[in-house]
Amino acid sequence: MSLSQSQTAATPEAATSEIVAQPGPWDDDPVLKVEHLTMRFGGLVAVDDLGFCVGRGDISAIIGPNGAGKTTVFNCLTGFYKPTEGMLTMTQAGGGQYLLERMPDFQISAHAKVARTFQNIRLFGGMTVLENLMVAQHNPLMLASYFTFGGILGLKHFRTAENGAVDRAKYWLERIRLLERADDPAADLPYGAQRRLEIARAMCTEPELLCLDEPAAGLNPRETAELNELLRFIRDEHGTSVLLIEHDMTVVMEISDHIIVLDYGQKISDGTPDHVRNDPHVIAAYLGVEDEEVDEVEREVETGEA
Ligand SMILES: Nc1ncnc2c1ncn2[C@@H]1O[C@H](COP(=O)(O)OP(=O)(O)OP(=O)(O)O)[C@@H](O)[C@H]1O
Ligand SMILES: [Mg+2]
Repeated sequence: MSLSQSQTAATPEAATSEIVAQPGPWDDDPVLKVEHLTMRFGGLVAVDDLGFCVGRGDISAIIGPNGAGKTTVFNCLTGFYKPTEGMLTMTQAGGGQYLLERMPDFQISAHAKVARTFQNIRLFGGMTVLENLMVAQHNPLMLASYFTFGGILGLKHFRTAENGAVDRAKYWLERIRLLERADDPAADLPYGAQRRLEIARAMCTEPELLCLDEPAAGLNPRETAELNELLRFIRDEHGTSVLLIEHDMTVVMEISDHIIVLDYGQKISDGTPDHVRNDPHVIAAYLGVEDEEVDEVEREVETGEA
């Protein structure tokens, strides 16, 4: 049974008992450091004083029951929401630092190099597969065209940039095995292929941090295995750090270097897949047990009965 199949929410109190965050290499050279992140919607605290690091070149996952605040974290990171409190520091490989909470969304993707996909697919359905990937490269192309005049005049500088953008798009289409569908409308693709295209579109912006909101949702087992392979390729061959939100434990446990677990907006566990899998707080949150029962789960984990 996957953890997601039994996600009756635990009490908020269960999340507040002592948390053991496992120190790890992700703390030494984080591409992203989240400190004291809080997001309130009126009286609701969707994210509550959250802190974690995303290691450079790691695949990190945020997991947690429905409504735990995972997508809200992404919305804060990518400028969709302005956090109520907190500091979100992106440190690029070259040393450049960006405080994401102070930047508008278009600068977060263009300058801080953070790209994302959405929980619900957001492709341009009427555009072709290739056009979706070209639109993603709009910013560098606009610059290369000196804000369209170079494009109209057919300047060499623009043509070189345009060819580069087409090559990059083709490279990713080949990678996700959609090159032969390049001229088809994106809406005509099967669901799994649309999910892959979204990831390719994000990769065309050449991000240092790729944030994926439930990339395996709705995929069949074969497509899930292909997704795992694609994410490993992105990490290993491109050195891109990946932060994913995912309910599918076959994806999370198989490919993650580091997992952060949220419940009721608070962090209840942080560490390697093995650490998180055996953490009584996580088991309690997913099983929906009460605060006082966490100790019982802990004893069961220790005796190997859980
Ligand atoms: N714009 C908003 N206005 C008010 N409440 C919101 C808003 N966005 C999110 N919330 C609330 O914040 C909480 C966290 O929601 P969020 O979407 O971040 O959860 P999630 O962990 O991504 O859940 P799921 O696994 O179902 O996608 C929920 O109670 C949700 O209703
Ligand atoms: Mg969500």
